[in-house]
Amino acid sequence: MSKDISTELMSVCKRRGYIWPSFELYGGVAGMFDYGPLGTSMRNNILEAWRNIYKVREGFIEIDSETINPEDVFKASGHVEQFSDYMVNCTECQLPFRADHLVGNFCENPDTMSPAELEKAFRDFNIKCPECGGELGKIEDFNLMFKTTIGPGSSRIGYLRPETAQGIFVNFQNLYRYNREKLPLGVIQTGRGYRNEISPRQGMIRMREFNMMEVELFVNPEDKSWPRFSEVQNGELTLLPNDTDKTVTMTVAEAVDKGVIANPVLAYFVYTTKQLLERVGIDTEKLRFRQHLKDEMAHYAADCWDAEVLLSYGWTEITGIADRGCWDLSRHSEFSGADLSHFEMFDEPKEMTFKKVVANHKKLGPAFKEKAKDIASALESETEDNIFDNKITLNINGERIVLTDEYFEVREVTEKVNGKRVIPHVIEPSYGLDRIFYSVLEHSYFNDEKRGYSIMKLVPGIAPIKVGIFPLMDKDGLDVLAKKIFADVHSSETPAYYDDSGTIGKRYARMDEVGTPWCVTVDYDSLKGPNKGTVTIRERDTGDQKRIPADDVAGVIRQLINGKEFSTL
Ligand code: ATP
Ligand code: GLY
Repeated sequence: MSKDISTELMSVCKRRGYIWPSFELYGGVAGMFDYGPLGTSMRNNILEAWRNIYKVREGFIEIDSETINPEDVFKASGHVEQFSDYMVNCTECQLPFRADHLVGNFCENPDTMSPAELEKAFRDFNIKCPECGGELGKIEDFNLMFKTTIGPGSSRIGYLRPETAQGIFVNFQNLYRYNREKLPLGVIQTGRGYRNEISPRQGMIRMREFNMMEVELFVNPEDKSWPRFSEVQNGELTLLPNDTDKTVTMTVAEAVDKGVIANPVLAYFVYTTKQLLERVGIDTEKLRFRQHLKDEMAHYAADCWDAEVLLSYGWTEITGIADRGCWDLSRHSEFSGADLSHFEMFDEPKEMTFKKVVANHKKLGPAFKEKAKDIASALESETEDNIFDNKITLNINGERIVLTDEYFEVREVTEKVNGKRVIPHVIEPSYGLDRIFYSVLEHSYFNDEKRGYSIMKLVPGIAPIKVGIFPLMDKDGLDVLAKKIFADVHSSETPAYYDDSGTIGKRYARMDEVGTPWCVTVDYDSLKGPNKGTVTIRERDTGDQKRIPADDVAGVIRQLINGKEFSTL
């Protein structure tokens, strides 16, 4: 599919109420789009497919947290320091560009290049401003977070969240208690993420405000098993590991046995991602999982596989599946002083030699007076993992207290213990809903030369309208029967569309173009003769038609949505 096709597709989407560029009335803003009525319904259907897998099948819990977060959150998460891209401005027209995108046609893996390497590439390949041909300036680090203030004045800095994930991490204590202090703990959240992208020029692929569906799975790092692994082990994956430039196809079990995806839990969720994407209509022939290069990985990730799909823009990431290790909980524990560990109970007490934090009561008493007792007891439940720069940060009744190592020592002891504290690790499948939405549209869009117009071959579960219902003429009682069928069928599970205007051919074309899988027509035979009481049902992709009883339409549509073959009607 060429770039022109994506322009053509966006024009159909705009005309038919899928997607509208935002603020067109005022000239538009790059990287911002509104969902029209059909787009909103289709996006909700994708969201429900995601919930069905994670909330229903896996039993994960869903939360909804704030989109504006205080600066503390993103200092701890590393985003204030590290969530940036390299930007370069044209010295003549002043337009900004992402430096790595400009060298994309000349260098391998541009997003791993340093500013000096990028500037050298500009010189070596004589790269100029793509808009006016002017000289490019110096490369700058540009943080992608939108900054704001919370409350009047400018004392409290806040950011619009660049990912929904942090809302889950900062709620870990609440979630852990809710889950009765057990691991694994799976939490999902959907909502907007905000990134002040430098130069969004790829339609819905790069938006400044976008929809995410994120999953944070907290696991005991020593437990590398997953209860449902055997159900997916024979499933096939197309993988592009980071030590080769060729894709390999192997089963999930092979990928784990050969160490291609080292962590079986990560491998399970790579396959789950394939299942979800296939279910919503991504063409799996145009889907691969690419492992990040070591120096490409986000600051928090220990391993990461991107689900990439082939679009008119080339191979494009639509989901990232990362092993975030203990990065987030360790950092929030360090910065807030809260205990974000899990206590793993042994089956029976074990004698163990380990490093224990012991409070220095002689120093704590005079320095902290009446608080000393609480501080000592909090100190002694800390593990060595929570010592950063020889300091431990505690949170005592909401007060953050940083203790240098004069207040504690770390002693090696051998004791009988009931269990041990671990910082949970996080496996994170992070889905970009808008990129999935757009990719489904591109993979479903076909120009049908015979019919002379385009068809959107959406899978029925995702299609915003399941069935069009038409009276052949808007008179003679045809309309009465058609309206009765519409009232029978139309529901939140099977949204129907009633259309009585224009020729039947035009009405079919309208439904084909928006991806409605079936149309039902009431004609004169429905009212008299041997076919009395029947209607025609037409399949979008083949144009085939059958007659079915008018009273059965609602049931037949439900069966078809659930996978019954049209040819067996
Ligand atoms: P890219 O390298 O393309 O900028 P990313 O690696 O920064 O993407 P992640 O941080 O892994 O993306 O975000 C998780 C998911 O969120 C992505 O797989 C993508 O689907 C989606 N996403 C990220 N940035 C955007 C954006 N600007 N517009 C739309 N979706 C986005
Ligand atoms: N939460 C994953 C990401 O935003 O990169």
